[in-house]
Amino acid sequence: MTIKQLLTQAEKELKESCERSRFEAELLLAYHLKKERTYLHAFDDKKVDDIESFHILVKRRANHEPYEYIVGEASFYDIELNVEAGVLIPRPETEILIDLVAEIIERENITSIAEVGVGSGAISVVLARKFPALNIIATDICDTPIKVANSNIEKYEVSNRVRVVKSSILDEVKEPIELVVSNPPYIAEDFILDSNVVDYEPKEALFGGVVGDELLKQIVLDVQERGINYLACEMGYDQKEPMTQFFNEIGVKYYKFYKDLAGFDRGFVITF
Ligand SMILES: C[S@@+](CC[C@H](N)C(=O)[O-])C[C@H]1O[C@@H](n2cnc3c(N)ncnc32)[C@H](O)[C@@H]1O
Repeated sequence: MTIKQLLTQAEKELKESCERSRFEAELLLAYHLKKERTYLHAFDDKKVDDIESFHILVKRRANHEPYEYIVGEASFYDIELNVEAGVLIPRPETEILIDLVAEIIERENITSIAEVGVGSGAISVVLARKFPALNIIATDICDTPIKVANSNIEKYEVSNRVRVVKSSILDEVKEPIELVVSNPPYIAEDFILDSNVVDYEPKEALFGGVVGDELLKQIVLDVQERGINYLACEMGYDQKEPMTQFFNEIGVKYYKFYKDLAGFDRGFVITF
């Protein structure tokens, strides 16, 4: 079969599961052929070998498996991160959290931070690349994120400044820290998610408890108790009210919420 014929067939197969089925068919075929997408347009009458393994890729995507898990990579900020099942695919909204944290690091000349819930290493690797004098300790409770984060830390050559430890929140972080950043699991246990998310992405990265904000609140308490000056967290679009109430209850005075690009409440920065 030619490139053109294969694309037409794959587009049909992806119609139900993907909004942009033609585009996704092209991405998968370009990945299969180890070429750029533009190659497909320039040589659309070329015959393709090993059609069977391309069909397997298309079938996986048609079953709602995220593209990033199929190809083992995700674009985030200015880097390409290794990802695999068991690790959250980094989301574009988390880039806003990074920019807010970067402003504080720059303004306050901060040199030691911790990240809670490292996942693929998205936040820690980007921040380490932005600030060559920054040291980061990143925690996670799951083994796959720890392994994948370490592979990305190696890939971007920041292993001399980013250390990953298996720990719940900051329990195993003993050194002095000036700022904590986290994109923790914050979804309520009974929230209905799309099948590409709930069937493939790790539960430990998604669900924050029965209500959803339990881990977020524990992070705030732990950071407050440790006397760390700054905390920046991502949160759910409906958590501004309960978090405000919680800040007032525990005596947090200086906090600011931020929104994502779609205009939803998406997180907060606390100065203790
Ligand atoms: C939403 S993912 C974020 C991953 C990554 N930081 C990102 O932004 O793409 C949350 C991560 O927190 C980890 N996690 C869950 N509970 C935790 C806890 N109590 N302490 C530390 N990490 C935890 C999960 O395993 C998961 O990797």
